[in-house]
Amino acid sequence: MGKQETVMDEALKEDVDSWETLMFLYNSALKEVGTKLDILNDEFVHIHKYNPIEYIKKRIKTPESIVKKLKRDGHESSIENMLAYVNDIAGIRIVCSFTSDIYRIAGMIGNQNDLTVVSIKDYIKHPKASGYKSFHMHVTVPIFLSDRVMDAKVEIQIRTIAMDFWASLEHKIYYKFEGNAPEYISRDLQECAEIVSKLDVKMLQLNEAIRAAKEKQDEAS
Ligand code: GTP
Ligand code: MG
Repeated sequence: MGKQETVMDEALKEDVDSWETLMFLYNSALKEVGTKLDILNDEFVHIHKYNPIEYIKKRIKTPESIVKKLKRDGHESSIENMLAYVNDIAGIRIVCSFTSDIYRIAGMIGNQNDLTVVSIKDYIKHPKASGYKSFHMHVTVPIFLSDRVMDAKVEIQIRTIAMDFWASLEHKIYYKFEGNAPEYISRDLQECAEIVSKLDVKMLQLNEAIRAAKEKQDEAS
C-alpha cells in the first residue's frame, strides 16, 4: 500500500511538472504571437498612418475549462489528450475597426514565415447558426528553449468591435442557459447579430466615403 502510494505520488509529481512546463510553453506562445501582432500593427501605422487593430486580448484557458472541454468531447483528462484535442489553450483575440481589416490582418499573419497556419474557419463568410461572426485561425509557433525548439498551438480570433460586442454579450446571456435558451431569445440574438452586421457595413462605407472625399480635397488643394 505504502509503495503504491509512492508510485502514485511520483506520477502526480510528474504530471504537475509537465503541466507547469506546458503552461510555460503556452504563455511563451502568447508572448511570441502578441509581439508579432504589435510589430505588424506598428509597421502598418508607420506606412499607412492608420492602425487596423483596436485592441488585443490574450488568455490561457483555465484548467476547469480544459477538463470540461475534454469531457464534453468524450476524452479523459490527461496531458496527452489536452495536447492532442484542445486547440485553444492559448487564445488571442484581435479586435479591428473594419471588416476589411480582418482579412488584411489574417493575410499578414499567414505571411509570417515562422508561423504555421494549421486551419482556418471563416465565420464571417459562413456565420454560425447562433449569428456568431469571427475569423478563426489555428497556428503553431516555435518556442526556442535553451536546448530544444517546441511548437505551441495558438487560437487566433479576429473580429470587428461590433462582432466582439455581440459575441461578448451573447456569451453572457446565452451561457446562463447552458445552451437551452428559450427559442425567442435565440431568435432575438440572431436579429441583433444582423443589426450588428449592418452597422459594420455602414461604418465601412462611411470610412471609404470619407477617404475618397479627403483624396479629392487633397488633389484640389
Ligand atoms: P469549442 O470547442 O467550443 O471551442 O468549439 P470548436 O472547437 O468547434 O470551435 P469553434 O470554432 O466552434 O469555436 C471556437 C471559439 O469561438 C469558442 O471557444 C468561442 O470563443 C467562439 N465561439 C464559437 N461560437 C460561438 C457563439 O455562438 N457565440 C460566442 N459568443 N462565441 C462563439
Ligand atoms: Mg473555444
